[in-house]
Amino acid sequence: MIKAVRGTRDLLPPETALWNFVEAAVRDVFRAYNFQEIRTPIFESTELFARGVGEETDIVAKEMYTWEDGADPADFAIYKEWMTRNFPEIGSYKNIDPEATGLRQRGLSGPIFLANFSGHYSVIKFKYGPTAQDIGEMIQVGERSKDEGVRPKLHLVTLSGTVHDGVRARAQDAGVKIEELTIENFLRPQFLTLRPENTAGVVRAYIQHDLQQNGLNKLYYIGPQFRRERPQKGRYRQFYQIGAEVIGPPSSGSESPARDAELLEMLATLLDRLGITDWNLELNSVGTPADRAKFNEALRKALDPVKDKMCGDCQRRAVTNPLRVFDCKVPEDQPIIETLPRIIQFLSEDARKHFDAVQEILTKVGVRFSLNDRLVRGLDYYTRTAFEFTHGALGAQNAILGGGRYDGLSEALGGPAAPGIGFAIGEDRLVMSLKETAEGVLRKPDVYVAPMAGMNGEAAKLAHELRRHDLVVELGDDTFRLKKSFEAATKAGAKYILIVGENEVKADAFAVKNLETGEQVQVARGDLAARIRGA
Ligand code: HAM
Repeated sequence: MIKAVRGTRDLLPPETALWNFVEAAVRDVFRAYNFQEIRTPIFESTELFARGVGEETDIVAKEMYTWEDGADPADFAIYKEWMTRNFPEIGSYKNIDPEATGLRQRGLSGPIFLANFSGHYSVIKFKYGPTAQDIGEMIQVGERSKDEGVRPKLHLVTLSGTVHDGVRARAQDAGVKIEELTIENFLRPQFLTLRPENTAGVVRAYIQHDLQQNGLNKLYYIGPQFRRERPQKGRYRQFYQIGAEVIGPPSSGSESPARDAELLEMLATLLDRLGITDWNLELNSVGTPADRAKFNEALRKALDPVKDKMCGDCQRRAVTNPLRVFDCKVPEDQPIIETLPRIIQFLSEDARKHFDAVQEILTKVGVRFSLNDRLVRGLDYYTRTAFEFTHGALGAQNAILGGGRYDGLSEALGGPAAPGIGFAIGEDRLVMSLKETAEGVLRKPDVYVAPMAGMNGEAAKLAHELRRHDLVVELGDDTFRLKKSFEAATKAGAKYILIVGENEVKADAFAVKNLETGEQVQVARGDLAARIRGA
Protein backbone atom coordinates (compact mmCIF):
# COMPACT_ATOMS: atom_id res chain seq x y z
CA MET A 1 0.00 0.00 0.00
CA ILE A 2 1.26 3.46 -0.87
CA LYS A 3 0.74 5.82 2.03
CA ALA A 4 0.79 9.60 2.37
CA VAL A 5 4.34 10.86 2.83
CA ARG A 6 5.64 11.38 6.38
CA GLY A 7 4.60 14.75 7.71
CA THR A 8 1.69 15.09 5.26
CA ARG A 9 -1.86 13.98 5.86
CA ASP A 10 -5.25 13.61 4.29
CA LEU A 11 -8.02 15.78 5.62
CA LEU A 12 -11.16 13.72 5.37
CA PRO A 13 -14.82 14.38 5.97
CA PRO A 14 -16.35 15.03 8.42
CA GLU A 15 -13.23 16.87 9.73
CA THR A 16 -13.07 18.99 6.58
CA ALA A 17 -16.34 20.56 7.76
CA LEU A 18 -14.35 22.15 10.59
CA TRP A 19 -11.83 23.54 8.09
CA ASN A 20 -14.68 24.98 6.03
CA PHE A 21 -16.21 26.43 9.18
CA VAL A 22 -12.91 28.15 10.03
CA GLU A 23 -12.32 29.43 6.51
CA ALA A 24 -15.85 30.79 6.21
CA ALA A 25 -15.43 32.70 9.50
CA VAL A 26 -12.02 33.97 8.33
CA ARG A 27 -13.38 35.30 5.04
CA ASP A 28 -16.26 36.92 6.87
CA VAL A 29 -14.16 38.62 9.54
CA PHE A 30 -11.40 39.70 7.12
CA ARG A 31 -14.01 41.19 4.81
CA ALA A 32 -15.26 43.41 7.64
CA TYR A 33 -11.72 44.82 7.88
CA ASN A 34 -11.61 45.33 4.12
CA PHE A 35 -9.02 42.66 3.28
CA GLN A 36 -8.96 41.06 -0.15
CA GLU A 37 -7.63 37.68 -1.17
CA ILE A 38 -4.32 37.15 -2.97
CA ARG A 39 -3.21 33.80 -4.41
CA THR A 40 0.46 33.40 -5.17
CA PRO A 41 2.20 30.28 -6.55
CA ILE A 42 3.06 27.39 -4.29
CA PHE A 43 6.63 27.40 -5.59
CA GLU A 44 8.92 30.34 -6.10
CA SER A 45 12.56 30.82 -6.91
CA THR A 46 14.76 29.72 -4.04
CA GLU A 47 16.46 33.08 -4.02
CA LEU A 48 13.24 34.77 -2.89
CA PHE A 49 13.27 32.91 0.41
CA ALA A 50 17.04 33.11 0.83
CA ARG A 51 16.89 36.89 0.51
CA GLY A 52 13.49 37.39 2.12
CA VAL A 53 13.40 35.02 5.06
CA GLY A 54 17.19 34.95 5.55
CA GLU A 55 19.90 32.37 4.84
CA GLU A 56 20.71 31.90 8.52
CA THR A 57 17.17 31.05 9.62
CA ASP A 58 16.26 27.43 10.37
CA ILE A 59 13.62 27.62 7.66
CA VAL A 60 16.05 28.46 4.86
CA ALA A 61 19.10 26.66 6.20
CA LYS A 62 17.40 23.34 6.99
CA GLU A 63 13.76 23.07 6.14
CA MET A 64 13.09 23.98 2.52
CA TYR A 65 12.02 21.64 -0.26
CA THR A 66 14.27 22.83 -3.04
CA TRP A 67 15.14 21.33 -6.41
CA GLU A 68 16.95 22.20 -9.57
CA ASP A 69 14.46 22.63 -12.35
CA GLY A 70 16.09 21.26 -15.50
CA ALA A 71 14.95 21.56 -19.08
CA ASP A 72 11.33 20.77 -19.63
CA PRO A 73 10.27 18.71 -22.68
CA ALA A 74 8.18 21.72 -23.68
CA ASP A 75 11.37 23.76 -23.82
CA PHE A 76 12.75 21.66 -26.66
CA ALA A 77 10.87 23.89 -29.09
CA ILE A 78 13.08 26.78 -28.03
CA TYR A 79 16.25 24.77 -28.62
CA LYS A 80 15.00 23.60 -32.01
CA GLU A 81 14.23 27.16 -33.01
CA TRP A 82 17.68 28.20 -31.90
CA MET A 83 19.32 25.34 -33.84
CA THR A 84 17.51 26.17 -37.04
CA ARG A 85 18.61 29.77 -36.70
CA ASN A 86 22.22 28.99 -35.88
CA PHE A 87 22.78 25.96 -38.10
CA PRO A 88 20.86 26.87 -41.27
CA GLU A 89 22.49 23.95 -43.10
CA ILE A 90 20.72 21.53 -40.81
CA GLY A 91 18.74 18.84 -42.62
CA SER A 92 16.76 17.13 -39.89
CA TYR A 93 17.10 16.38 -36.26
CA LYS A 94 15.38 14.42 -33.58
CA ASN A 95 15.31 14.60 -29.83
CA ILE A 96 16.97 11.80 -28.06
CA ASP A 97 14.26 10.90 -25.65
CA PRO A 98 16.01 10.68 -22.29
CA GLU A 99 13.41 8.23 -20.98
CA ALA A 100 13.82 5.83 -23.90
CA THR A 101 17.60 5.84 -23.78
CA GLY A 102 17.60 5.19 -20.05
CA LEU A 103 19.73 8.28 -19.61
CA ARG A 104 17.29 9.93 -17.26
CA GLN A 105 18.02 7.34 -14.59
CA ARG A 106 21.67 8.21 -14.92
CA GLY A 107 20.93 11.87 -14.30
CA LEU A 108 20.66 13.31 -17.79
CA SER A 109 19.87 16.96 -17.76
CA GLY A 110 19.56 19.42 -20.60
CA PRO A 111 18.27 18.47 -24.05
CA ILE A 112 20.27 16.35 -26.41
CA PHE A 113 19.66 16.17 -30.16
CA LEU A 114 20.77 13.98 -32.99
CA ALA A 115 20.96 16.28 -36.00
CA ASN A 116 21.65 15.72 -39.67
CA PHE A 117 23.89 18.39 -41.22
CA SER A 118 23.81 18.03 -44.97
CA GLY A 119 24.41 14.33 -44.84
CA HIS A 120 26.48 13.88 -41.72
CA TYR A 121 25.14 13.53 -38.25
CA SER A 122 25.91 15.39 -35.08
CA VAL A 123 24.97 14.80 -31.51
CA ILE A 124 24.28 18.19 -29.98
CA LYS A 125 23.89 18.66 -26.32
CA PHE A 126 22.93 21.91 -24.62
CA LYS A 127 24.05 22.45 -21.10
CA TYR A 128 24.32 25.42 -18.80
CA GLY A 129 27.32 24.21 -16.86
CA PRO A 130 28.56 21.02 -18.55
CA THR A 131 30.18 18.26 -16.53
CA ALA A 132 32.35 15.32 -17.55
CA GLN A 133 29.21 13.21 -17.23
CA ASP A 134 27.59 15.20 -20.03
CA ILE A 135 30.41 14.17 -22.32
CA GLY A 136 29.83 10.58 -21.25
CA GLU A 137 26.17 10.85 -22.17
CA MET A 138 27.03 12.25 -25.58
CA ILE A 139 29.41 9.39 -26.25
CA GLN A 140 26.65 6.96 -25.34
CA VAL A 141 24.20 8.59 -27.72
CA GLY A 142 26.92 8.54 -30.36
CA GLU A 143 27.46 4.82 -29.80
CA ARG A 144 23.75 4.13 -30.07
CA SER A 145 23.60 6.05 -33.32
CA LYS A 146 26.35 3.87 -34.72
CA ASP A 147 23.94 0.97 -34.30
CA GLU A 148 21.58 2.87 -36.55
CA GLY A 149 24.35 3.07 -39.12
CA VAL A 150 25.43 6.70 -38.57
CA ARG A 151 28.68 8.11 -37.21
CA PRO A 152 27.82 11.37 -35.57
CA LYS A 153 30.10 14.25 -34.68
CA LEU A 154 29.76 15.38 -31.12
CA HIS A 155 28.97 19.03 -30.28
CA LEU A 156 28.63 20.28 -26.78
CA VAL A 157 26.92 23.67 -26.72
CA THR A 158 27.53 25.37 -23.45
CA LEU A 159 25.42 28.28 -22.44
CA SER A 160 27.45 29.57 -19.57
CA GLY A 161 30.69 30.27 -21.34
CA THR A 162 32.61 28.49 -18.60
CA VAL A 163 33.86 24.98 -19.11
CA HIS A 164 36.13 23.54 -16.48
CA ASP A 165 39.53 22.20 -17.50
CA GLY A 166 38.65 18.64 -16.55
CA VAL A 167 35.57 18.72 -18.77
CA ARG A 168 37.57 20.26 -21.59
CA ALA A 169 40.17 17.50 -21.35
CA ARG A 170 37.54 14.78 -21.33
CA ALA A 171 35.88 16.39 -24.37
CA GLN A 172 39.17 16.49 -26.23
CA ASP A 173 39.83 12.81 -25.52
CA ALA A 174 36.39 11.89 -26.80
CA GLY A 175 36.57 14.12 -29.86
CA VAL A 176 33.76 16.34 -28.64
CA LYS A 177 33.72 19.81 -30.11
CA ILE A 178 32.80 22.45 -27.59
CA GLU A 179 30.93 25.55 -28.65
CA GLU A 180 30.49 28.28 -26.16
CA LEU A 181 27.51 30.56 -26.46
CA THR A 182 26.11 33.33 -24.40
CA ILE A 183 22.42 33.60 -24.91
CA GLU A 184 20.32 36.15 -23.08
CA ASN A 185 17.61 34.63 -20.88
CA PHE A 186 18.40 31.15 -22.05
CA LEU A 187 17.03 28.27 -20.07
CA ARG A 188 19.34 28.40 -17.14
CA PRO A 189 18.61 25.84 -14.54
CA GLN A 190 16.58 27.44 -11.82
CA PHE A 191 16.48 26.56 -8.20
CA LEU A 192 12.91 26.38 -7.04
CA THR A 193 11.43 25.93 -3.59
CA LEU A 194 8.05 24.92 -2.24
CA ARG A 195 7.01 27.97 -0.25
CA PRO A 196 7.80 27.58 3.45
CA GLU A 197 5.81 30.74 4.18
CA ASN A 198 3.94 33.31 2.14
CA THR A 199 5.08 36.78 3.18
CA ALA A 200 8.03 36.77 0.79
CA GLY A 201 5.71 35.66 -2.05
CA VAL A 202 3.19 38.41 -1.33
CA VAL A 203 5.90 41.07 -1.21
CA ARG A 204 7.34 39.69 -4.46
CA ALA A 205 3.90 40.06 -6.04
CA TYR A 206 3.60 43.58 -4.58
CA ILE A 207 6.82 44.58 -6.31
CA GLN A 208 6.19 42.70 -9.56
CA HIS A 209 2.69 44.15 -10.10
CA ASP A 210 3.51 47.61 -8.79
CA LEU A 211 0.80 47.34 -6.16
CA GLN A 212 2.08 50.51 -4.53
CA GLN A 213 -0.24 52.26 -6.99
CA ASN A 214 -3.15 51.07 -4.85
CA GLY A 215 -1.79 52.85 -1.79
CA LEU A 216 -2.35 50.63 1.22
CA ASN A 217 -2.83 46.97 0.25
CA LYS A 218 -4.67 44.69 2.67
CA LEU A 219 -4.27 41.16 1.42
CA TYR A 220 -5.01 37.73 2.83
CA TYR A 221 -4.31 34.16 1.78
CA ILE A 222 -5.23 30.64 2.75
CA GLY A 223 -3.09 27.77 1.57
CA PRO A 224 -0.46 25.08 2.08
CA GLN A 225 3.13 25.76 3.12
CA PHE A 226 6.00 23.28 3.28
CA ARG A 227 8.78 22.85 5.83
CA ARG A 228 10.96 19.83 6.34
CA GLU A 229 10.66 19.78 10.13
CA ARG A 230 10.51 16.74 12.37
CA PRO A 231 6.80 15.84 12.33
CA GLN A 232 4.94 15.76 15.63
CA LYS A 233 1.55 16.77 16.97
CA GLY A 234 0.73 20.16 15.51
CA ARG A 235 3.79 20.15 13.27
CA TYR A 236 3.59 18.88 9.72
CA ARG A 237 5.70 19.07 6.59
CA GLN A 238 2.73 20.24 4.60
CA PHE A 239 0.65 22.52 6.75
CA TYR A 240 -1.85 25.27 6.07
CA GLN A 241 -1.61 28.94 6.84
CA ILE A 242 -4.22 31.65 6.92
CA GLY A 243 -2.28 34.87 6.63
CA ALA A 244 -2.70 38.55 5.96
CA GLU A 245 -0.36 41.35 4.97
CA VAL A 246 -0.85 45.11 5.13
CA ILE A 247 1.67 46.77 2.87
CA GLY A 248 2.02 50.05 1.01
CA PRO A 249 4.23 53.08 0.48
CA PRO A 250 4.96 55.09 3.64
CA SER A 251 2.58 57.82 2.39
CA SER A 252 -0.30 55.32 2.64
CA GLY A 253 0.07 55.11 6.41
CA SER A 254 1.55 51.62 6.25
CA GLU A 255 3.94 52.43 9.08
CA SER A 256 1.33 53.66 11.50
CA PRO A 257 0.95 51.85 14.85
CA ALA A 258 -2.77 52.00 14.07
CA ARG A 259 -2.19 49.28 11.48
CA ASP A 260 -0.40 47.01 13.97
CA ALA A 261 -3.18 47.42 16.51
CA GLU A 262 -5.93 46.94 13.94
CA LEU A 263 -4.39 43.67 12.78
CA LEU A 264 -4.08 42.36 16.33
CA GLU A 265 -7.60 43.43 17.16
CA MET A 266 -8.84 41.61 14.02
CA LEU A 267 -7.10 38.45 15.21
CA ALA A 268 -8.64 38.69 18.66
CA THR A 269 -12.03 39.16 17.03
CA LEU A 270 -11.50 36.14 14.78
CA LEU A 271 -10.46 33.88 17.65
CA ASP A 272 -13.42 35.02 19.74
CA ARG A 273 -15.75 34.45 16.82
CA LEU A 274 -14.40 30.90 16.51
CA GLY A 275 -15.05 30.33 20.20
CA ILE A 276 -11.33 30.12 21.02
CA THR A 277 -11.04 32.09 24.24
CA ASP A 278 -7.97 31.02 26.20
CA TRP A 279 -5.33 32.54 23.93
CA ASN A 280 -2.43 34.66 25.03
CA LEU A 281 -1.06 37.45 22.85
CA GLU A 282 2.67 37.86 23.37
CA LEU A 283 4.11 41.11 22.15
CA ASN A 284 7.61 42.44 21.61
CA SER A 285 9.46 44.98 19.52
CA VAL A 286 12.56 43.83 17.64
CA GLY A 287 13.50 47.42 16.76
CA THR A 288 14.76 49.02 13.58
CA PRO A 289 17.65 47.50 11.62
CA ALA A 290 19.96 50.04 13.31
CA ASP A 291 18.70 49.01 16.77
CA ARG A 292 19.26 45.40 15.80
CA ALA A 293 22.80 46.05 14.65
CA LYS A 294 23.61 47.46 18.09
CA PHE A 295 21.82 44.60 19.78
CA ASN A 296 23.63 42.01 17.68
CA GLU A 297 26.92 43.60 18.64
CA ALA A 298 26.04 43.39 22.34
CA LEU A 299 24.85 39.82 21.90
CA ARG A 300 28.06 38.81 20.19
CA LYS A 301 30.03 40.23 23.09
CA ALA A 302 27.82 38.50 25.64
CA LEU A 303 27.99 35.20 23.77
CA ASP A 304 31.72 35.22 23.23
CA PRO A 305 32.73 33.92 26.68
CA VAL A 306 29.85 31.39 26.92
CA LYS A 307 29.25 30.15 23.40
CA ASP A 308 31.61 27.18 23.75
CA LYS A 309 29.23 25.72 26.32
CA MET A 310 26.32 25.96 23.87
CA CYS A 311 25.02 23.65 21.13
CA GLY A 312 26.67 23.57 17.71
CA ASP A 313 23.90 25.63 16.11
CA CYS A 314 24.28 28.36 18.73
CA GLN A 315 28.05 28.42 18.31
CA ARG A 316 27.52 29.09 14.61
CA ARG A 317 24.73 31.60 15.23
CA ALA A 318 26.86 33.48 17.79
CA VAL A 319 29.12 34.42 14.90
CA THR A 320 26.80 34.71 11.89
CA ASN A 321 23.49 35.95 13.30
CA PRO A 322 23.44 36.09 17.10
CA LEU A 323 19.74 37.01 17.28
CA ARG A 324 18.92 33.49 16.10
CA VAL A 325 20.29 32.11 19.37
CA PHE A 326 16.86 32.94 20.79
CA ASP A 327 15.36 30.28 18.46
CA CYS A 328 17.38 27.59 20.27
CA LYS A 329 15.23 24.83 21.76
CA VAL A 330 18.08 22.87 23.42
CA PRO A 331 17.18 22.70 27.16
CA GLU A 332 20.82 22.93 28.36
CA ASP A 333 21.29 26.23 26.50
CA GLN A 334 18.27 27.93 28.08
CA PRO A 335 19.95 29.12 31.32
CA ILE A 336 22.66 30.81 29.24
CA ILE A 337 20.09 32.41 26.93
CA GLU A 338 18.25 33.74 29.98
CA THR A 339 21.30 35.82 30.91
CA LEU A 340 21.66 37.48 27.49
CA PRO A 341 20.74 41.10 26.85
CA ARG A 342 17.30 41.82 25.39
CA ILE A 343 16.43 43.78 22.26
CA ILE A 344 14.01 45.96 24.20
CA GLN A 345 17.01 47.61 25.95
CA PHE A 346 18.34 48.72 22.57
CA LEU A 347 15.25 50.32 21.08
CA SER A 348 15.66 53.75 19.57
CA GLU A 349 13.35 56.53 20.65
CA ASP A 350 11.23 56.12 17.50
CA ALA A 351 10.86 52.38 17.85
CA ARG A 352 9.92 52.72 21.50
CA LYS A 353 7.29 55.38 20.73
CA HIS A 354 5.84 53.23 18.00
CA PHE A 355 5.67 50.23 20.32
CA ASP A 356 4.05 52.30 23.09
CA ALA A 357 1.44 53.59 20.64
CA VAL A 358 0.55 50.05 19.57
CA GLN A 359 0.03 49.04 23.19
CA GLU A 360 -2.02 52.12 23.92
CA ILE A 361 -4.50 51.41 21.12
CA LEU A 362 -4.73 47.74 22.09
CA THR A 363 -5.60 48.73 25.62
CA LYS A 364 -8.18 51.16 24.33
CA VAL A 365 -9.92 48.51 22.19
CA GLY A 366 -9.71 45.96 24.99
CA VAL A 367 -7.28 43.45 23.47
CA ARG A 368 -5.31 41.83 26.29
CA PHE A 369 -1.61 41.08 25.76
CA SER A 370 1.56 40.30 27.64
CA LEU A 371 5.06 41.56 26.85
CA ASN A 372 7.66 38.92 26.04
CA ASP A 373 11.15 40.34 25.57
CA ARG A 374 12.53 37.00 24.36
CA LEU A 375 10.23 36.86 21.38
CA VAL A 376 12.37 37.44 18.26
CA ARG A 377 10.54 35.23 15.72
CA GLY A 378 12.30 32.77 13.44
CA LEU A 379 12.44 34.88 10.27
CA ASP A 380 14.97 37.63 9.56
CA TYR A 381 12.66 40.19 7.97
CA TYR A 382 11.04 41.44 11.15
CA THR A 383 11.34 45.00 12.38
CA ARG A 384 9.63 46.67 15.33
CA THR A 385 6.35 44.94 16.36
CA ALA A 386 6.58 41.14 16.65
CA PHE A 387 3.91 38.91 18.15
CA GLU A 388 2.57 35.43 18.67
CA PHE A 389 -0.74 34.09 19.88
CA THR A 390 -0.30 30.96 21.95
CA HIS A 391 -2.86 28.52 23.23
CA GLY A 392 -2.39 26.29 26.27
CA ALA A 393 -4.22 23.25 24.90
CA LEU A 394 -1.77 22.84 22.01
CA GLY A 395 1.16 21.41 24.00
CA ALA A 396 4.73 21.92 22.79
CA GLN A 397 3.74 23.50 19.47
CA ASN A 398 1.65 26.12 21.19
CA ALA A 399 1.89 29.02 18.73
CA ILE A 400 -1.39 29.30 16.85
CA LEU A 401 -0.07 32.20 14.88
CA GLY A 402 2.81 34.60 14.56
CA GLY A 403 3.66 37.78 12.76
CA GLY A 404 5.07 41.25 12.86
CA ARG A 405 6.35 44.21 10.88
CA TYR A 406 8.76 43.86 7.99
CA ASP A 407 9.44 47.45 7.02
CA GLY A 408 12.56 46.68 4.96
CA LEU A 409 11.52 43.49 3.18
CA SER A 410 10.41 45.08 -0.07
CA GLU A 411 13.73 46.93 -0.40
CA ALA A 412 15.66 43.77 0.47
CA LEU A 413 13.91 42.14 -2.51
CA GLY A 414 14.79 45.02 -4.80
CA GLY A 415 11.45 46.86 -4.50
CA PRO A 416 10.39 50.31 -3.38
CA ALA A 417 10.10 51.37 0.25
CA ALA A 418 7.00 49.56 1.47
CA PRO A 419 6.59 49.10 5.20
CA GLY A 420 4.31 46.24 6.07
CA ILE A 421 2.91 44.11 8.82
CA GLY A 422 1.26 40.72 8.74
CA PHE A 423 0.66 37.41 10.39
CA ALA A 424 0.10 33.78 9.58
CA ILE A 425 -2.17 31.45 11.51
CA GLY A 426 -1.30 27.75 11.54
CA GLU A 427 -4.67 26.47 10.35
CA ASP A 428 -3.93 22.91 11.48
CA ARG A 429 -3.36 24.23 15.01
CA LEU A 430 -6.33 26.56 14.86
CA VAL A 431 -8.59 23.63 14.00
CA MET A 432 -7.06 21.66 16.90
CA SER A 433 -7.92 24.49 19.30
CA LEU A 434 -11.61 24.60 18.39
CA LYS A 435 -14.18 23.50 20.89
CA GLU A 436 -16.57 22.84 18.03
CA THR A 437 -16.74 19.30 16.70
CA ALA A 438 -17.00 18.34 13.07
CA GLU A 439 -20.39 16.80 13.79
CA GLY A 440 -21.50 20.07 15.33
CA VAL A 441 -20.72 22.21 12.29
CA LEU A 442 -21.54 19.71 9.57
CA ARG A 443 -24.73 20.34 7.66
CA LYS A 444 -26.46 16.98 7.40
CA PRO A 445 -29.00 16.21 4.66
CA ASP A 446 -32.37 17.81 5.27
CA VAL A 447 -34.04 15.03 3.38
CA TYR A 448 -33.34 11.63 1.87
CA VAL A 449 -35.33 11.04 -1.30
CA ALA A 450 -36.10 7.32 -1.61
CA PRO A 451 -37.30 6.11 -5.02
CA MET A 452 -39.41 2.96 -5.22
CA ALA A 453 -38.82 0.48 -8.06
CA GLY A 454 -38.55 2.21 -11.45
CA MET A 455 -38.78 5.71 -9.96
CA ASN A 456 -35.17 6.97 -10.26
CA GLY A 457 -36.19 9.55 -12.86
CA GLU A 458 -39.09 10.97 -10.85
CA ALA A 459 -36.97 11.01 -7.70
CA ALA A 460 -34.16 12.86 -9.48
CA LYS A 461 -36.64 15.46 -10.70
CA LEU A 462 -37.98 15.99 -7.21
CA ALA A 463 -34.48 16.17 -5.67
CA HIS A 464 -33.55 18.75 -8.30
CA GLU A 465 -36.53 20.91 -7.30
CA LEU A 466 -35.81 20.65 -3.59
CA ARG A 467 -32.12 21.49 -4.01
CA ARG A 468 -33.12 24.70 -5.77
CA HIS A 469 -34.69 25.70 -2.45
CA ASP A 470 -31.29 25.45 -0.79
CA LEU A 471 -32.03 22.15 0.89
CA VAL A 472 -29.36 19.48 1.32
CA VAL A 473 -30.80 16.45 -0.45
CA GLU A 474 -29.41 12.92 -0.53
CA LEU A 475 -30.80 10.87 -3.37
CA GLY A 476 -31.25 7.08 -3.06
CA ASP A 477 -31.61 4.37 -5.67
CA ASP A 478 -34.64 2.50 -6.91
CA THR A 479 -33.03 -0.91 -6.45
CA PHE A 480 -33.06 -0.35 -2.67
CA ARG A 481 -35.91 -1.95 -0.78
CA LEU A 482 -37.71 0.41 1.58
CA LYS A 483 -35.87 -0.97 4.62
CA LYS A 484 -32.50 -0.33 2.99
CA SER A 485 -33.55 3.22 2.07
CA PHE A 486 -34.46 3.89 5.70
CA GLU A 487 -31.11 2.54 6.84
CA ALA A 488 -29.24 4.68 4.29
CA ALA A 489 -31.22 7.77 5.30
CA THR A 490 -30.45 7.20 8.98
CA LYS A 491 -26.76 6.60 8.25
CA ALA A 492 -26.57 9.82 6.26
CA GLY A 493 -28.12 11.64 9.23
CA ALA A 494 -31.06 12.94 7.18
CA LYS A 495 -33.86 14.63 9.05
CA TYR A 496 -36.65 13.43 6.76
CA ILE A 497 -37.19 10.62 4.31
CA LEU A 498 -39.41 11.22 1.32
CA ILE A 499 -40.82 8.23 -0.54
CA VAL A 500 -41.28 8.49 -4.29
CA GLY A 501 -43.62 5.77 -5.55
CA GLU A 502 -46.00 5.53 -8.50
CA ASN A 503 -49.04 6.48 -6.40
CA GLU A 504 -47.28 9.48 -4.93
CA VAL A 505 -46.30 10.77 -8.35
CA LYS A 506 -49.85 10.31 -9.62
CA ALA A 507 -51.31 12.10 -6.61
CA ASP A 508 -48.53 14.75 -6.78
CA ALA A 509 -48.24 14.39 -3.00
CA PHE A 510 -45.57 12.51 -1.08
CA ALA A 511 -45.12 10.71 2.22
CA VAL A 512 -42.61 12.61 4.33
CA LYS A 513 -41.42 10.97 7.50
CA ASN A 514 -39.47 12.69 10.25
CA LEU A 515 -36.72 10.21 11.11
CA GLU A 516 -36.29 11.57 14.63
CA THR A 517 -39.92 11.62 15.76
CA GLY A 518 -41.35 8.98 13.43
CA GLU A 519 -44.16 11.38 12.49
CA GLN A 520 -45.35 10.90 8.91
CA VAL A 521 -47.44 13.25 6.79
CA GLN A 522 -48.66 13.48 3.23
CA VAL A 523 -47.44 16.72 1.58
CA ALA A 524 -48.37 18.23 -1.79
CA ARG A 525 -45.40 18.70 -4.14
CA GLY A 526 -45.59 22.49 -3.97
CA ASP A 527 -45.43 22.52 -0.17
CA LEU A 528 -42.54 20.06 0.23
CA ALA A 529 -39.65 22.53 0.51
CA ALA A 530 -41.36 24.70 3.11
CA ARG A 531 -42.46 21.66 5.09
CA ILE A 532 -38.97 20.13 5.13
CA ARG A 533 -37.37 23.38 6.14
CA GLY A 534 -39.82 23.38 9.03
CA ALA A 535 -41.39 26.68 8.10
P1 HAM B 1 5.76 31.46 11.32
O1 HAM B 1 5.79 31.80 12.76
O2 HAM B 1 6.93 30.79 10.74
O3 HAM B 1 5.48 32.83 10.56
O4 HAM B 1 4.47 30.58 11.04
C1 HAM B 1 3.19 31.04 11.43
C2 HAM B 1 2.39 29.90 12.03
O5 HAM B 1 2.35 28.80 11.14
C3 HAM B 1 2.97 29.33 13.31
O6 HAM B 1 2.61 30.09 14.44
C4 HAM B 1 2.30 27.96 13.35
O7 HAM B 1 0.99 28.05 13.88
C5 HAM B 1 2.20 27.61 11.88
N1 HAM B 1 3.26 26.65 11.52
C6 HAM B 1 4.55 26.89 11.24
N2 HAM B 1 5.21 25.76 10.96
C7 HAM B 1 4.30 24.76 11.04
C8 HAM B 1 4.35 23.35 10.87
N3 HAM B 1 5.46 22.72 10.49
N4 HAM B 1 3.21 22.63 11.07
C9 HAM B 1 2.06 23.25 11.44
N5 HAM B 1 1.96 24.58 11.60
C10 HAM B 1 3.06 25.33 11.43
C11 HAM B 1 5.35 32.95 9.21
O8 HAM B 1 5.23 32.02 8.46
C12 HAM B 1 5.29 34.38 8.73
N6 HAM B 1 5.17 34.38 7.24
C13 HAM B 1 4.12 35.10 9.36
C14 HAM B 1 4.02 36.52 8.92
C15 HAM B 1 3.19 37.03 7.99
N7 HAM B 1 4.79 37.50 9.35
C16 HAM B 1 4.45 38.62 8.72
N8 HAM B 1 3.50 38.33 7.88
